[in-house]
Amino acid sequence: MPGRDDTPILKTSHLLGIEGISVGEITALLDLADDYVTLGRSAEKKLGLLKGRTLINLFFEASTRTQSSFELAGKRLGADVLNMSVKTSSVSKGETLIDTATTLNAMRPDILVVRHQDSGAAELLSRKLDCCVVNAGDGSHEHPTQALLDALTIRRRRGGFEGLIVTICGDVLHSRVARSNIVLLSKMGARVRIAAPRTLLPADADRLGVEIFTDMRAALAGADIVMMLRLQQERMAGAFVPSTREYFRFYGLDREKLKLAKPGAFVMHPGPMNRGVEIDSTVADDIEVSVIQEQVEMGVAIRMAVLDALSRGLAAGGRNAP
Ligand code: CP
Repeated sequence: MPGRDDTPILKTSHLLGIEGISVGEITALLDLADDYVTLGRSAEKKLGLLKGRTLINLFFEASTRTQSSFELAGKRLGADVLNMSVKTSSVSKGETLIDTATTLNAMRPDILVVRHQDSGAAELLSRKLDCCVVNAGDGSHEHPTQALLDALTIRRRRGGFEGLIVTICGDVLHSRVARSNIVLLSKMGARVRIAAPRTLLPADADRLGVEIFTDMRAALAGADIVMMLRLQQERMAGAFVPSTREYFRFYGLDREKLKLAKPGAFVMHPGPMNRGVEIDSTVADDIEVSVIQEQVEMGVAIRMAVLDALSRGLAAGGRNAP
């Protein structure tokens, strides 16, 4: 069970993306998160590691999983947690991201968890504020804690990553989850495939170091893991697919398409799901193949590990030290 251990895990005082962290740092976070899974499954779930620390959740985009799991993670570690309601904040009166964040920073939080629609928003705040900044999703750029929780789910199921074939299917173009997962899984030795209609593939797809497919069936052949993504309508100006019905026919995961993957392959989805668009309920709800609820559980553990790791930097005299 985790106790007060100040062995450094992260080299920086922020978690902005998977791009910026090493295999060693990822492995250390996953090891620590394993302990937090055990803690989360016990009757007494609280520790006092972050006692006296303040965590602010600042979400400019909607969230169920990420915001609630950061809140739980902070509370389970003993921190005071403030969830800023952006809709009812002075953002509605025209206050900018920087002004909002610097205002909150003046209240001396230790950690700010931020989700914003613009790529680079978390990185920008990390340069302006004197608290630790965690990127909870910036535009279509990165969602590092999602990739870490996905990695934790995979490692606990498969024991490692080397040689695993992971097929990521859907709206890769707009997906920060895909981007962070591609970077993480490639760093850890997995073979990543992406499958999408041409309109939903990033322009730089051939520089991502992945195998690219427009035929989902071909991308599924022999896959160990199938990771489905939703169509991010909120980031689309105009139509990227002819219709959701047609999209499901070619890119929706159902039992018949899943048969093309390796026997024993499992299905992941970061949520929120759009049933009948990218995934059929008969797959999503089948606990023999779907690990979607397990991913949610791993989300709390990973976020506890991230907060623990950042607090070690604070204890060692990093930002906000007294
Ligand atoms: N996967 C994910 O980020 O979910 P939320 O948008 O609900 O936080």
